[in-house]
Amino acid sequence: MGSSQRMNVDKDRRDILKILIGTSVSLGLGGITVPLVGALIGGKANLVKPSPYGHIEVMLCEDPPRCPDDFSVTVSEIRNASAEGRPLFRLIKKGTMAIPTVFGIVKIDQREYPVAYNIVCTHFGCPVNQSGPADNMVGFFCPCHGSSFSIDRDPASPTFLAALRIAGPAPRPLRPVKVVAARGGELLEPGAPLLDGDVIYAVKAYV
Ligand code: FES
Repeated sequence: MGSSQRMNVDKDRRDILKILIGTSVSLGLGGITVPLVGALIGGKANLVKPSPYGHIEVMLCEDPPRCPDDFSVTVSEIRNASAEGRPLFRLIKKGTMAIPTVFGIVKIDQREYPVAYNIVCTHFGCPVNQSGPADNMVGFFCPCHGSSFSIDRDPASPTFLAALRIAGPAPRPLRPVKVVAARGGELLEPGAPLLDGDVIYAVKAYV
């Protein structure tokens, strides 16, 4: 093995180690983490999509819709996960971090809004679980110390849906991931009806 090959292998190992460290906080209690735990224990790669970006599943994209498909999730992926009673879980790459994120669709006044949140509780970092009906994301509950979060319009920015703390010791809302929906290369207006083939881009992650 040449020195450049050896460097690539070492880099891959470092990348995988960073991801495992970054996601280890999500390997606690809670049904939301079961698919991830199962995949790791089973040695399966169903959460690991081979891509030029390594083992990250979604990249942040600041210039949608001119981003590769690998930078997105589809509405059908979110709806299929909801039909199974869970939110769609993905790792998002931001710099050298892997952010454990759930994607969902919130329905307000007959309108649909794609949303995504970092699942790490803002109290002591336990992974939160979705509360409410599986097909309409309304909030989250932290199993560690009982914080609850409700998805609602952010008073400071009414067009933005935040996961606001409504009970428990968490000091802040869940960290949001800003998302936008696109269809056929065009961005959709917030609240527009979503079709299965529409794609959701993660534009910005707040940490
Ligand atoms: S870690 Fe979530 S309430 Fe304490």
